Amino acid sequence: MRIVITGASRGIGAEFVRVLLAEGHEVHAVTRNADRLAEFTKEKNLHVHAIDLENVAGPETLSRALEGRPIDLLINNAGMYATDASLAKLKFDDVRTSFEVNTILPMRVCQALLPNLNKGAKVAQITSLMGSIADNGSGGSYAYRMSKTALNMFNKCFAIERPDLTTVVLHPGWVQTDMGGKQAPTTPKQSVAGMLKVIGGLKTSDTGKFYDFEGDELPW
Ligand SMILES: NC(=O)c1ccc[n+]([C@@H]2O[C@H](COP(=O)([O-])OP(=O)(O)OC[C@H]3O[C@@H](n4cnc5c(N)ncnc54)[C@H](OP(=O)(O)O)[C@@H]3O)[C@@H](O)[C@H]2O)c1
Repeated sequence: MRIVITGASRGIGAEFVRVLLAEGHEVHAVTRNADRLAEFTKEKNLHVHAIDLENVAGPETLSRALEGRPIDLLINNAGMYATDASLAKLKFDDVRTSFEVNTILPMRVCQALLPNLNKGAKVAQITSLMGSIADNGSGGSYAYRMSKTALNMFNKCFAIERPDLTTVVLHPGWVQTDMGGKQAPTTPKQSVAGMLKVIGGLKTSDTGKFYDFEGDELPW
């Protein structure tokens, strides 16, 4: 398969790269930190795209690099947690940046790669259970939660606009990464193995849905 992964230099994204290369896939890793993928430089199936997707021309640059090459799976993994400030202390630049990275960036990548996403292709948007309104029992994390909720809505609209694709939002679990911290119960290895099993088992009728890394469907 030809697979594109954003936010590929560390955490969950880097684990996706490692596992998918080991499985023999053609992996297109998109990152602002290409040097962090140095351990894979000998991999002939790895194509590193050193692109800052937040840049105005970022998604277009990726689109040009992949021109004419159909993608089997797009994993929109890049994401950020900007602030846990209460409303009184919230800085709106943090809210804007969160929407830019967690919502608009995956939308822009999907838009730029529309010519590469043919009938039967799959898209996995890495979201968070924190974007679930139904599950929100503790509040806080305004910027992160809201931007992931918006990502979930984007994916639902995209699934309806493109019924020939299978596009889902996936919660990776609480994972031991820079974002998740050391106290997280799930390793990147467990999370990615779980998500790849979920992705592999997706049927076209699953499009637009919200799953966790263990394959359970989550509430909106
Ligand atoms: N860890 C958890 O517990 C957890 C839980 C729920 C959801 N998630 C989601 O899982 C995904 C991966 O998170 P992670 O835990 O692996 O986090 P991480 O270790 O902090 O890595 C985040 C990745 O996102 C990219 N990124 C961050 N800011 C960016 C920006 N401004 N522009 C472009 N790319 C940016 C980075 O890409 P570069 O390679 O370009 O540096 C980095 O590789 C995120 O979408 C996150 O929201 C994580």
